[in-house]
Amino acid sequence: MMKEKTTDKAFRELMKEKAAVIDEMLAGYIFHPACDEQELIAEAMRYSLLAGGKRLRPILMQETYRMFGGSGTQFIEPFMAAMEMIHTYSLVHDDLPAMDNDEYRRGRRTTWAVYGDDMGILTGDALLNAAYETALSVLEVCETPEQYRRVSRALGVLAANAGVRGMIGGQVADMAAEKQKEPLTGQQINYIYWNKTGALIEASMIIGAVLAGATLSHQEDISLCAMDIGMAFQIQDDILDIVGDSAELGKSVGSDAANGKQTYVTAHGLEQAGAEVERLSNEAIGILQKLPGDHGFLETLVRYLIHRRS
Ligand code: IPE
Ligand code: IPE
Ligand code: MG
Ligand code: MG
Ligand code: MG
Repeated sequence: MMKEKTTDKAFRELMKEKAAVIDEMLAGYIFHPACDEQELIAEAMRYSLLAGGKRLRPILMQETYRMFGGSGTQFIEPFMAAMEMIHTYSLVHDDLPAMDNDEYRRGRRTTWAVYGDDMGILTGDALLNAAYETALSVLEVCETPEQYRRVSRALGVLAANAGVRGMIGGQVADMAAEKQKEPLTGQQINYIYWNKTGALIEASMIIGAVLAGATLSHQEDISLCAMDIGMAFQIQDDILDIVGDSAELGKSVGSDAANGKQTYVTAHGLEQAGAEVERLSNEAIGILQKLPGDHGFLETLVRYLIHRRS
């Protein structure tokens, strides 16, 4: 027990260091206002983006890139930044009164709570557009047809998984499910979780794999692995919404209950939910272990996420 805790603590520190490096990188991509009229939106974008999330998706992207032999920063970094911008926009909109109606996120008041609903909507939109502008800038460093091919495919994955066949589709089903009186079916829960949370995690890992030149068959393995990680991550998020500590999480707890939201936990109970997080994570690790390259960091990360408290 003691040893496990020490290892967890060391890994948490390592994740914090990686997040700090990504924070610095993100600050380099942030929008700078060119006139007085742009100052408010620039401030709200900085407020939400540079608020210090875990930066899990860029970390997964970078580590998958490395695992498949990718090196250097010029291809991967703008995609890491773009992914975190899209994820942050999804949170800014998710917190709006019309959606989850939350006032606390990443250790501070939510964007809409500080700047108003109107600016909450516009800040999310602005981050989404900034994400594509950032990712598209990678085309400028492409020289060979193979580089163009990889970058085009990565752009396609980013757009598809952030959209209706991905995160937005999941959020739409999540909102519809809140109005459903009957218990959600297993199929509905899978659809919501794979899309609202799984899709951006999948895109992060696939983009890392694609940019590093992984084969199609390895990309398929990564996709399955990422869907397991995404599902486990969302179930753990639901668990923490009940048993977590708001200060530690940096966001509101009890939000799901306040919204009368059905989740994996309301359907199966806390104990079974915890067991499912573990099962899915082990399945993801099993896939990683069969892939070439050094999967050590990703494996430890997936294990660490099972017992995460934030
Ligand atoms: C929260 O994501 C939303 C979910 C998909 C569960 P994170 O828990 O990764 O949030 P940040 O980025 O660390 O704030
Ligand atoms: C969020 O799910 C998924 C997104 C796409 C933003 P939740 O609504 O459970 O995320 P939190 O708990 O507010 O971070
Ligand atoms: Mg939500
Ligand atoms: Mg929410
Ligand atoms: Mg939640």
